[in-house]
Amino acid sequence: MSKFPKLQIGLVGCGSFGESHLAAFKGIPYVQVTAVTDVVESRARNLATKYGIDQVTRDYRELCSLPQLDAVSVVTTEDQHLGPVLEALRHGKHVFVEKPIATSIEDGERMLEASRKAGRILMPGHLLRFEARYALVKEQLTSGRLGQIVSIFARRNRPKKQGKIYKRTPLVLETAIHDIDTMLWYTGKKVKSVNAFEVALEPGGMADLLWAVLQFEGGAVGVLQTMWLLPDKTEALDDAMQVVTTSGIANVDILHSGLTLWHEEGHEMPDVSYEPRICGSVYGALREELSYFALCALEGRAPVLVTAEDGVNALRVGLAVVESARTGGTVMM
Ligand SMILES: NC(=O)c1ccc[n+]([C@@H]2O[C@H](COP(=O)([O-])OP(=O)(O)OC[C@H]3O[C@@H](n4cnc5c(N)ncnc54)[C@H](O)[C@@H]3O)[C@@H](O)[C@H]2O)c1
Repeated sequence: MSKFPKLQIGLVGCGSFGESHLAAFKGIPYVQVTAVTDVVESRARNLATKYGIDQVTRDYRELCSLPQLDAVSVVTTEDQHLGPVLEALRHGKHVFVEKPIATSIEDGERMLEASRKAGRILMPGHLLRFEARYALVKEQLTSGRLGQIVSIFARRNRPKKQGKIYKRTPLVLETAIHDIDTMLWYTGKKVKSVNAFEVALEPGGMADLLWAVLQFEGGAVGVLQTMWLLPDKTEALDDAMQVVTTSGIANVDILHSGLTLWHEEGHEMPDVSYEPRICGSVYGALREELSYFALCALEGRAPVLVTAEDGVNALRVGLAVVESARTGGTVMM
């Protein structure tokens, strides 16, 4: 038995990123995941066995009512965050919720209100705030070594096979929401207007590619590029950001990670940024992010690195992008 206090966590949503959470939590010494649930029970059972978790509950209501839990991690599909978030807060648990915080402003605001009322943490999964390169740029901006932001360009491209799964949610809310949050974080300004352009290869289908131009109060311009069009064999994260300021430029390059592996079957450029696996443990931004959440929950202090309001602000801009792409017009915010 450990002599250190451990945060008892329950996990709702045992899909692909739910498993990433479990693998990351396993490496955090002051966390213990003791219950999991999923609407597909076999997924919850499989992960409970794999990660040595005691309890599989029938549904999120039962999980959220477990008295031993201090916190709940919500990793359900994008439009299924509201129910578990509200239920966990109602039972006085701290909550981590994956991005996008919600798929409608109304849901996001209901979550904000519930977390204020419960006096519990509600922290959204804006991972880039915990990625070393993106965080170092923020530090340069805050210290004044980089001047006023003139423009930010962000790229976040994924293979077609991922599009087949994630086209259930508008592209911008699935991928570029990370960059929108980062742009809001870096500039500290509101977005004034949005112009977005989408291409769907299937007539009437969900977008395969998106470009968006955001104009910030104070004049800075943000440009987003994101797509589900990388060839399926692309085993790399095609992510980058360029921040142009009045006294310098910051270039973040996730694609050229500094590690290339050549094998007889081909080559790969593994993730060393977001959730690299080393000896079965998750390192990188995901571990930093979940460690920070768990520490805030254990110590009962509000997270300042990212807040629920940040999650709703990013969602508001994301939905304006959806609206502009749909109507072909400028959305004023
Ligand atoms: N931060 C990141 O970089 C990152 C990366 C991938 C996914 N995500 C986010 O994580 C979330 C989950 O994504 P995923 O890739 O794991 O999707 P997924 O489809 O693999 O898993 C979602 C799981 O939630 C379960 N589920 C849905 N509704 C439920 C409910 N009411 N109760 C219990 N279980 C329910 C589904 O059965 C499924 O197993 C999404 O919000 C996604 O955008 C974030």
